[in-house]
Amino acid sequence: MKKLFAANWKMHKTTFEARQTAAELAGLVSGKLKADREVMILPTFTALAPVAEALRGAASFLVGAQNFYPQKQGAFTGEISPGMLLDVGASFALTGHSERRHVLGETDAMVGLKTAFGLESGLGIILCVGEKLEERKADELESVLERQIRAGLRDVAVDVDPQRLVLAYEPVWAIGTGLVAGAKEILEAHAFVRRMLVEIFGLSASQMRILYGGSVKPDNASEIIALDNVDGVLVGGASLKADEFSRIVLA
Ligand code: PGA
Repeated sequence: MKKLFAANWKMHKTTFEARQTAAELAGLVSGKLKADREVMILPTFTALAPVAEALRGAASFLVGAQNFYPQKQGAFTGEISPGMLLDVGASFALTGHSERRHVLGETDAMVGLKTAFGLESGLGIILCVGEKLEERKADELESVLERQIRAGLRDVAVDVDPQRLVLAYEPVWAIGTGLVAGAKEILEAHAFVRRMLVEIFGLSASQMRILYGGSVKPDNASEIIALDNVDGVLVGGASLKADEFSRIVLA
């Protein structure tokens, strides 16, 4: 199982900037990336094709999208389908990111529809889950994760290819705040996510990757990545500059 280093660029970068950053990153990492690691860039929709083009031929680099709508095509103004993402070189997409849940109002049910539809359409999916600070304080970590995981995976086939289903634990209070979860908190949450995956998928759950996300930086990446049940990281702010993200990827 390769460790996955995913760069969530959110709503940043023009096509020119995205292409430039992707090419710079590939150059910095080329020949130095450990064999058991892969890197994924998740730019905005408009930059997907330019980034895929910039990374053509770069070994161990993947392109992913940040969102899609769970229909093949049709009268859904402003939306984009998994097939359209595959067409421009994306092989993965996020579902359930906390900004989509809490800023854009996406429900657990919608996250479930998207996750199953994306997988059936041929995309790999990174399903994000995580608790808000008030939920953690109210001792609701496990109940929130359980609810989000069960709803998110409700319609996913039990024999899904484990390489194409990735979970990301991102405590909402650690995203973009500079507050990183401690080792104990990460270990507990990831062990809980793994137990849920085993319950749902049985043996193949051991081959599914669980990423940590929330204020990952060059100076904390190696410690986080070495923890049990941490199979990679999902990075926002610190992924925007090629030099900074390359230090995470090579940590
Ligand atoms: P951050 O974002 O690294 O800026 O905290 C992580 C994410 O939102 O995926």
